[in-house]
Amino acid sequence: MDKKTIRDIDVSNKKVLVRCDFNVPQDENGNITDTRRIVGALPTIKYLLDHNAKVILCSHLGRPKGEVKKEFSLAPVQKELSKELGIEVKIADDIVGESAKALTQNMKVGEVVLLENVRFDKREEENDREFSKELASLADIYVNDAFGTAHRAHSSTAGVAEFLPAVSGFLIEKEIKFLGEALNNPVRPFVAILGGKKVSDKISVINNLLEKVDTLIIGGGMAYTFLKAKGLNIGSSICEEDKLDLAKELMKKAEEKNVQLLLPIDVNVAKEFDKDAESKIVDINSIEDGWQGLDIGPETISKYEEVLKNAKTIMWNGPLGVFEFEKFAVGTNKIAEMLGKLDATTVIGGGDSAAAVEKAGLADKMTHISTGGGASLEYLEGKVLPGIDCLENK
Ligand code: 3PG
Repeated sequence: MDKKTIRDIDVSNKKVLVRCDFNVPQDENGNITDTRRIVGALPTIKYLLDHNAKVILCSHLGRPKGEVKKEFSLAPVQKELSKELGIEVKIADDIVGESAKALTQNMKVGEVVLLENVRFDKREEENDREFSKELASLADIYVNDAFGTAHRAHSSTAGVAEFLPAVSGFLIEKEIKFLGEALNNPVRPFVAILGGKKVSDKISVINNLLEKVDTLIIGGGMAYTFLKAKGLNIGSSICEEDKLDLAKELMKKAEEKNVQLLLPIDVNVAKEFDKDAESKIVDINSIEDGWQGLDIGPETISKYEEVLKNAKTIMWNGPLGVFEFEKFAVGTNKIAEMLGKLDATTVIGGGDSAAAVEKAGLADKMTHISTGGGASLEYLEGKVLPGIDCLENK
């Protein structure tokens, strides 16, 4: 069902409460190290300002668990927003208290006020009705643009929609367009690449994707659970022993659905889990005891590339090796480079795969990089996201 967006509602002279996902990574000095989520929110904020709205922004940052903790303050985000927008964004000391009320009561058109971290109040994560009502009382319209938090049913992401006209911002609209179209209406061949450590994190995603894709490529740590389930020796590679039967079932399902399921055929194995560990490339049938696979090998990369070059839609979630260690980032980087060159729709799930593409300097070569980690995974699982579900239908 299509959701209303800010284009479908008159925002002129109205106070608009916009839920963003400003949960951005910071270094030990509080400097923001990745501004993608802030940049991703700008089109909505600018549209509202251009259409004479009074903009009240809110977000969570980290998990302060209902307590006011300075290290989780949104002050660094306020600075970045002021810089990006070229105007002074004011920040309240609280969320729905005296400071927020004072700053939002007599707002003028074109002003932007940022509320403090909504998770400083424990009622936020409880989706407390009173708290939702208090938040709503600050504004005339609610806009959700926090795709990264759309899988949480909290006051500021869902509860507040009960009390105000509720529509989506441009970021959520864009995320649904790219993720939704790739998933539900892909130009074929449709190939999904899944990586990451654990099968258990991705069971539902694999299950859902097996209904949709032509080829499923599995790399990263979770490949070893599949390889062991096939009877191969995986040495001391990461493995979820309790998921071996499940891996067998998923491989059987792939066969039944006529989905080509690709696993590594060679790997870069290391003596230990370390960035400088002694390592060597071995055939998948020759992993010795005491060695662990930390990256896919060159034969595997070529095999995956063969399939990818004919694909028309590619969805990628999860790195194909331990990409944090340069030595074992080869597979992830090569696949990212390849995707950057293809004439296909390339959709990158958030979290680690987005970071890998970013790190390889290839972000602008992809069709879409999701700003949602957990949220994009739940979307790929086929789940209804409460932060989107609560918005008005067109
Ligand atoms: C994220 O970074 O995935 C979102 O901001 C959600 O954060 P959470 O997992 O703490 O709810």
